[in-house]
Amino acid sequence: MMTETTTGKGRANRVALVESFFHGTGDTYDQHVHLATWGRDRQWKEELLSFVKEPKRILDLACGTGILALEMARRYGCHVTGVELRGEYLDICRERAAEHGFADRTRWIESNAEDVLLEEQFDTITSCYIPKYVNLDILVPNMVTMLAPGGLFIMQDFSYPEEKWVQNIFDDHFDRMKARINGEGWDTMWEQLPDVVRNSTWIKDTARNMREQGLVDVTIVPQSRGMSTVVYGRRPA
Ligand SMILES: C[S@@+](CC[C@H](N)C(=O)[O-])C[C@H]1O[C@@H](n2cnc3c(N)ncnc32)[C@H](O)[C@@H]1O
Repeated sequence: MMTETTTGKGRANRVALVESFFHGTGDTYDQHVHLATWGRDRQWKEELLSFVKEPKRILDLACGTGILALEMARRYGCHVTGVELRGEYLDICRERAAEHGFADRTRWIESNAEDVLLEEQFDTITSCYIPKYVNLDILVPNMVTMLAPGGLFIMQDFSYPEEKWVQNIFDDHFDRMKARINGEGWDTMWEQLPDVVRNSTWIKDTARNMREQGLVDVTIVPQSRGMSTVVYGRRPA
């Protein structure tokens, strides 16, 4: 069945949404991801990394300014490929990779992650904050094709908490930030992100697609009482 998310129109709308959230924000991105996550972005990424074991070749989807990709290059001394829609974010990744001496083992691809189907395999595919922006019926099968036997595919994103009191914290935070943030190009993100998160079905869509594609040990890990979630699965060895 063709749905809004499987048609070209759905895709164009999703890309336009991402453009409206992130256009011209490269220089201030790291500060806003810290604010948007109640200062927990680093902690959520650390939890994601606790599932990553001795990677040699990593693909990081929606790498943004490279916070996770560059940390993985530093920590594991391995090769990291970052995929990102925004050229301005990739310029920052390249600069930072050169500063840290990682230029020769990092690669930055400007593309919609849904279109990435490289003729190589990765033992680890990671991603923070992309699932709510993509068609997971396309993205997950493509990623599984590039996942080496025994490899890990792991995604993290915001989620809308189930407990009422945590929902109140979530709602209040975005309401307050929306009122305080003015300028720097972030207004649309603060205005619309809460509804995108509330309406997203990314957790069940990711887990279903991972299972349908033959991944095993598919696991859903709530973070910070469900304000964020990690979903991962492994390709059988
Ligand atoms: C909140 S940022 C996360 C960046 C990075 N993963 C991090 O954790 O800091 C979301 C990123 O997803 C990127 N993005 C959204 N949809 C995408 C797509 N279909 N393909 C590639 N990148 C996408 C945006 O351009 C943006 O940089």
